[in-house]
Amino acid sequence: MTELGTITKEIISSQTIMEQVNAVKKLSTFYNQITADGKHFDITPDNEKYIAGGQALSTYHAAVCTDDYLRTCYFLKGVYRAIINLQSDFPSRKIKVLYAGCGPFATLLLPLLPLFEKNAVEAIILDINSSSIESVKKLISILNFDDYSLTMVETDATTYQKPTEWEIDLFISETMHYGLTAEPQVAITKNFIPQLLPHTIFIPQQIHIDLVYTSFSKEPFIKFNQNPLETTKMQSEPTRKYIDRLFSIGKGDAFLLNSDQITTKFYPVPQDLHSYPDLTLFTEVEIFEDLSLKTAESVLTNPYCLSSLFHLKAHKEFQLIYDFSATPKWAYSFK
Ligand SMILES: C[S@@+](CC[C@H](N)C(=O)[O-])C[C@H]1O[C@@H](n2cnc3c(N)ncnc32)[C@H](O)[C@@H]1O
Repeated sequence: MTELGTITKEIISSQTIMEQVNAVKKLSTFYNQITADGKHFDITPDNEKYIAGGQALSTYHAAVCTDDYLRTCYFLKGVYRAIINLQSDFPSRKIKVLYAGCGPFATLLLPLLPLFEKNAVEAIILDINSSSIESVKKLISILNFDDYSLTMVETDATTYQKPTEWEIDLFISETMHYGLTAEPQVAITKNFIPQLLPHTIFIPQQIHIDLVYTSFSKEPFIKFNQNPLETTKMQSEPTRKYIDRLFSIGKGDAFLLNSDQITTKFYPVPQDLHSYPDLTLFTEVEIFEDLSLKTAESVLTNPYCLSSLFHLKAHKEFQLIYDFSATPKWAYSFK
């Protein structure tokens, strides 16, 4: 087994939070050593791109996502299980994976390749940043993955159309920020929903956005490189008032196809502002089966404070509007 294969096996079999964090740290060190200065990788922080649908992280900032430990661990476990499930459902089939937004390490797919036969998986791998595409091409060569069927495409995943005859068995994209703000996860999902088949596994399977009143300053908030034990142990501390699930995004959500806006129903402005002073959005990411990122276990699921409820108190009812026609953002309006 190669060094990368050994690290990935450790990630897949890790159980406790510490085991998961330590295994992903080994992956991060492995990638950073290979791509260190002098090896002609261009892991630049200066190529962030703004497109309709959201901003694409720079190559450097996409690399740093590896150090969102539980995110990386759960996605790798999820993609691994999804491929195994597809192999069991379609035993004679080469599993076709479309990976939208790979960053410089293709973190959610390359580490798994040593665990599969060379002819078991075929992938189309996309990113909008040429440095990220070039980096993954170099890694494929350095890690001896040339015999795998991997097609790299520099393109915008919010508009990309797959080759007509190419059937997507597994779709992977992690192009999101908490509250579904900033990055183009929803626009990419919208573009790919019509390109999927009934059997296609879509990772993450569901992203939920919940409306919660809370005291935001008391809520946990995780950073890259931070041990999630520090934030998950805070979960029970703040007093939260759960109001509603605003929407969920996944493969089956055809309602996305008709618009670049999601408008919620009206909610009464609460009277008791002192106990729960902030209008906050909570994100949960169901990756695959029971693998799910809860509040502040990952940078993706940090709470997002939209407004102090004191700003709303002159009104009786409000609604929320999520707009992803440009950089995705939230707004509110009143009846
Ligand atoms: C959050 S990073 C994740 C990187 C890597 N997949 C990982 O999980 O560690 C998102 C990646 O998606 C890419 N991306 C964002 N928007 C994109 C778009 N519209 N088309 C193609 N790639 C995009 C960014 O350039 C970045 O490399």
